[in-house]
Amino acid sequence: MSERETWATRAGFILAAVGSAVGLGNIWQFPFKTAQFGGASFLVVYLIAVFGIGLPAILAEFVIGRRAKLNAVSAFGNLGYRQWRFVGALGLFTGFWILSYYSVVGGWVIRYIWGSATGAYFTDSAAYFGAVSAGLDAVALHAVFMFLCIFIVALGIEDGIEKATKVMVPSIVVILLGLAAYGTTLSGAGAGYDYFLSPDFGALMSNIGDIVPFAVGQAFFSLSLGMGAMITYASYIDGEDSLVADGSTIVVLNTFVGVLAGFVVFPLLFAQGIDPNTSGPGAVFVSIAGAFANIPAGRAVGVVFFLVVLIAALSSAISLLEVVTSYIIDNYDVGRAPTATAIGVGLFLLGLPSAFDTAWLGWFDTLAYQLLLPVSVLLVLVFVGWILGGEALSEVMKGSSLGDGFGTTWLWMVRVVVILAVLGTLALGIQTLFLGSEPAIVPPL
Ligand code: PHE
Repeated sequence: MSERETWATRAGFILAAVGSAVGLGNIWQFPFKTAQFGGASFLVVYLIAVFGIGLPAILAEFVIGRRAKLNAVSAFGNLGYRQWRFVGALGLFTGFWILSYYSVVGGWVIRYIWGSATGAYFTDSAAYFGAVSAGLDAVALHAVFMFLCIFIVALGIEDGIEKATKVMVPSIVVILLGLAAYGTTLSGAGAGYDYFLSPDFGALMSNIGDIVPFAVGQAFFSLSLGMGAMITYASYIDGEDSLVADGSTIVVLNTFVGVLAGFVVFPLLFAQGIDPNTSGPGAVFVSIAGAFANIPAGRAVGVVFFLVVLIAALSSAISLLEVVTSYIIDNYDVGRAPTATAIGVGLFLLGLPSAFDTAWLGWFDTLAYQLLLPVSVLLVLVFVGWILGGEALSEVMKGSSLGDGFGTTWLWMVRVVVILAVLGTLALGIQTLFLGSEPAIVPPL
């Protein structure tokens, strides 16, 4: 087997991890959920979830990856706990599951770049979404999106993922900043900022039972946790720099992009008097696209907006494809390119139900969010906190100038606080999945 690849630079690792984290979760889900659950007051809950739970958890994944220097499954064996490899396998499965429909949504985004250029959705954005979101068009573009992922992953860590994300991540930030600046020029934008940023504690308190699990789940999804992605990316780290510093940078940048996306989305909607409370997988496409129909230079703004969504979705999707690819090439004597291609074809097939019917897409998503992700994160935390224990502590402290007290606090956070928080989230998720009035777990046939 040839020598295992590594990132060329520390910044390369950080940018790739930010690329994985910043995706549809930030640009679409985050601003809308913030608005729906009470604006600035939700933001506070989310920030607590991100820094109190997400950051300790991302460090846990980094510890496994960098210490073992192997893919998300074999890493557990390499650390001396072969029987824990099932945790990695669950992460791998979860990543595979999620990428199958993430790619379908990626296909819609490609379609909307084109639709913006031609103004195809300008007359009736809801009808347009209905026509292109499911069926043969969606299947074809799902294939195109998957092909782009395969292409980047096949090129490898340094030449593919690192080079691609080095361009992608800065362009996401620059384009969003440009769009946010454009947003300030729209009349009526002020109402959008208000909606996004003014706290509504009444809405927060009356929904707190829904909000907390959502905020935690959103933190996991957005930070790409529970899917082996961060374990895999950390396994390509060559140096001994501080994981705490890298992890904090990644978490801060990811949150920044989410907030920035809010500054793009809400002025656009409010300038058009569109109610942002139309949720569901199609909302970004219907309501935002609807706004582009009427604003000055709407076509150009639409192309740029959907282009940045595409870049963000791609840099996330490649991290998921890499998880599985890395597992296969670490364990079998096969090349990177054929492996990525074969997995991509499998993903394309698994995504077909989602491409033919958005109800299936919703079902795949619900199952991932409420069940697979929290279970997978929980097991990783138990492993790092209680099984690796002191070994994890010394890995997390390497290269860090923080005192030992920090490491011990982190370990006990993982052992108790974070694990309990995830258990709570999981309980609520399972309750809505299996015990709700219409259990979401029933597949849409
Ligand atoms: N974090 C990505 C997002 O916010 C999604 C993702 C999840 C990517 C898991 C990779 C792994 O859209």
